Amino acid sequence: DLPREVTIWEVGPRDGLQNESSVVPVEIKLEFLDRLADAGLRVLEATSFVHPKWVPQLADAEELLAGLRRRDGVRYPVLVPNERGLGRALAAGVRHIAVFGSATESFARRNLNRGLDEQFAMFEPVVGRARAEGLDVRGYLSMCFGDPWEGAVPAEQVVAVGRRLLDMGCAQLSLGDTIGVATAGQVQAVLAAFRDAGVPVDALAVHFHDTYGQALANTLTALRAGVSTVDSSAGGLGGCPYAESATGNLATEDLVWMLDGLGIRHGVDLDVLVGTSAWMATRLGRPSPSRVVRALSG
Ligand code: HMG
Ligand code: MG
Repeated sequence: DLPREVTIWEVGPRDGLQNESSVVPVEIKLEFLDRLADAGLRVLEATSFVHPKWVPQLADAEELLAGLRRRDGVRYPVLVPNERGLGRALAAGVRHIAVFGSATESFARRNLNRGLDEQFAMFEPVVGRARAEGLDVRGYLSMCFGDPWEGAVPAEQVVAVGRRLLDMGCAQLSLGDTIGVATAGQVQAVLAAFRDAGVPVDALAVHFHDTYGQALANTLTALRAGVSTVDSSAGGLGGCPYAESATGNLATEDLVWMLDGLGIRHGVDLDVLVGTSAWMATRLGRPSPSRVVRALSG
């Protein structure tokens, strides 16, 4: 059964812009966030409080939060890896955070400079303090469907690491196909493994990158399994600077087009969103990879 309504978790300002070769000026980022809110999106992942040398594209997190024109009913989650990041986020008035773990040892080392177990030692005080302060905490789990250094990732390993993030106090777990290699059968298998382990599907979100053009098929598979929170990025921006061959996320426009066809509510005005991505494409100096954006803005 398909859900009647889907929450779109817009990650363009974070996952999208973190992978741009040039640093987008903060005024453009703020206008992007305004336009995404105008389009009806209600969750806007705004930036990351990570080490500025690791992700220079988002080194302006404080400035961005200070200039943010917050809207009623819109959440602005940010990525936080450690206590230093949480302190910065709290000082900036953040109310929603996400920690981001890896299902594999190799990516934990490359993305967080920590081993698989060590990443939990880093997250634990973050999640504990964030919850004590009344913040909402999401957990990302990367490399759920394949890892560029380790190859296939066993579903049992994904479930075991994912459970640790949920048990730690993350309200939601977003399953990442960081490098965009997943196919529908695998999505079915991983979601079934979580179900068999007793994890409620309401606690899960999906986060697909579109490297191999499978993101939409994978999303439909997840919707059929009962998932109702889907991560996507306007215009299909995105990628992870620490994951080989990661390209953009599922484009929000492609998702909206499919949801419209299925009669699933989402609250987004597609024309406003396409206009936003077309505007961003001119700022970035290259066309959006989203087929829907190209079809509607030609
Ligand atoms: P580290 O070098 O091990 O840091 O990096 P450390 O703990 O050893 O600290 C070293 C210095 O950095 C210290 O300063 C800290 O204060 C400072 P010193 O005492 O030497 O002067 N420092 C910080 N400064 C500012 N903000 C901070 C911070 N933390 C430490 N938060 C660290 C460890 C986790 C910080 C680093 O590896 C890092 O920032 N990684 C972030 C990588 C990243 O953002 N990747 C992209 C996001 S994940 C993704 O895209 C996947 C996702 O989309 C899902 C999917 O697709 O699968 C979410
Ligand atoms: Mg990602």
